[in-house]
Amino acid sequence: MRTNIIYPFMFLLVLFAFSCKNKEGDMNTEIVSKPEVSFFKEPYRPQFHFTPTEMWMNDPNGLVFNNGIYHLFYQYHPEDIVWGPMHWGHATSKDLVYWEHKPIALFPDENGYIFSGSAVVDRNNTSGLGTQDNPPLVAIFTYHDINKEKDGSDDFQTQGIAYSLDNGDSWTKYHANPVLGNEGIRDFRDPKVFWHEPTQSWIMVLVAGDRAQFYRSDDLIDWTFLSEFGKNAGAHGGVWECPDLFPLKTPGSGEEKWVLIISINPGAPNGGSGTQYFIGEFNGTTFTSDQKEDKWIDWGTDNYAGITYNNEPNNQRIFIGWMSNWAYARDTPTEEWRSAMTVPRSLSLIKLGDIYELTNYPLDNLGTIFKSELKKDFELLAGDSETIDFDHYNQSEIRFKTPNRNFEISFNNSLGEQLLLKLDGEKGQFLLDRSKSGKTAFKEEFGKNIQKLPITTIPDGEIELRVLMDWSSVEIFINGGQRVMTAQLFPNENYTKLTFKNSSAEILTINKFEVSRAEAIW
Ligand code: FRU
Repeated sequence: MRTNIIYPFMFLLVLFAFSCKNKEGDMNTEIVSKPEVSFFKEPYRPQFHFTPTEMWMNDPNGLVFNNGIYHLFYQYHPEDIVWGPMHWGHATSKDLVYWEHKPIALFPDENGYIFSGSAVVDRNNTSGLGTQDNPPLVAIFTYHDINKEKDGSDDFQTQGIAYSLDNGDSWTKYHANPVLGNEGIRDFRDPKVFWHEPTQSWIMVLVAGDRAQFYRSDDLIDWTFLSEFGKNAGAHGGVWECPDLFPLKTPGSGEEKWVLIISINPGAPNGGSGTQYFIGEFNGTTFTSDQKEDKWIDWGTDNYAGITYNNEPNNQRIFIGWMSNWAYARDTPTEEWRSAMTVPRSLSLIKLGDIYELTNYPLDNLGTIFKSELKKDFELLAGDSETIDFDHYNQSEIRFKTPNRNFEISFNNSLGEQLLLKLDGEKGQFLLDRSKSGKTAFKEEFGKNIQKLPITTIPDGEIELRVLMDWSSVEIFINGGQRVMTAQLFPNENYTKLTFKNSSAEILTINKFEVSRAEAIW
């Protein structure tokens, strides 16, 4: 059932809201609305991923559930399709499948642009910004003072708060912002705040250059430094950004482990931006981890700055990432808007060998939009291939299982464009090659590298693939999200052929191959 479909008149309402004057004192002026195009049907417009109606979007911000509503705020530049003075855009959902666009939540002010951050439900009104009967939603974000930055000082990023007493519809900035000043750290940003039950305190994790820092507070206003982590841990190919910290239960024993997520730009395994994680312990003051190797949430190029929901009602840990990469985010070939979010994914711990790892997999809710159209089991002799036609691979879900570790699948269109996926048992790699997938020349970094994921760490046995394709993106989940690859692509025409190729000397068995059409959520 489609509950939150936005019809064109709603779209006009949204444009009207966007074009209203900003709050007093805000730096931003009027936003020029564009003439309506056929709603959400522009070239490359995702049909089941979140995108803003128009203009530039980057990181998800302030993911919080409150009174039946999942909020999604996001880094937003309402005046252009490239990055600029940052606002918090806003959308809501009852099920994380269908979204409703809302007016902009936070505008830049005299303290600066509104960079990334989080939101909490201050249930006991510890901040005093609401009442016991009407506890506030509090957003904690980074102020980026562009003038200070231009003047050459290092303390241009500080942390501020704002609150809402009507479940996110309207926001008031705290009168004495910033609540956390800066002692001269150039990259000091992206606060993630959560309630820590054992110590009955608010904990903030933010990034400070090449490390994470932890702070505590009783009221979301006065913050005390606790500790830091990471100077000598994990990947350091670029600046650390957008941290998150949360507990998860281990499979089997149900023991609690803490996961620290850190985005890094550049320095990802396949170039540009990527998101690493650490599994360890957090005692309310310090985070420790004895993890030896770098771990990545997603091996594809296009899942960045992802964070998780606060106050999730069903005890799930739900993650949304920005489906782009700073290496080319500003250049991708869309015109009305730029970039999308990943599908919401559920995070869990698994044990591979002796080591705990984090899986990420589409939320069950999303299953409702996939309508099965084709199912079969088949085998291919050595060197053989088989092509399966479907008019709509660009908006579909593909699943299959195979005991083999050598195969190729390619999505093709009549223009000879191709997205190639390959499992190469000899090299121990899963490969994604988008160099011929469609438009790639807009930025060299986009098409030049074959993206690689080591599969040597995936236990022997059946490999299961689930692929979600949505006009300008592909998300590949291997073995229930043990390994994941997310990438953007811009084919000039629909892919209508899927070709399996057996490049090994053995019979290739494909089990439970299934193609489903994905319904549009808009
Ligand atoms: C990550 C990031 C954040 C920052 C925001 C600015 O993509 O660089 O660190 O807060 O984007 O838009």
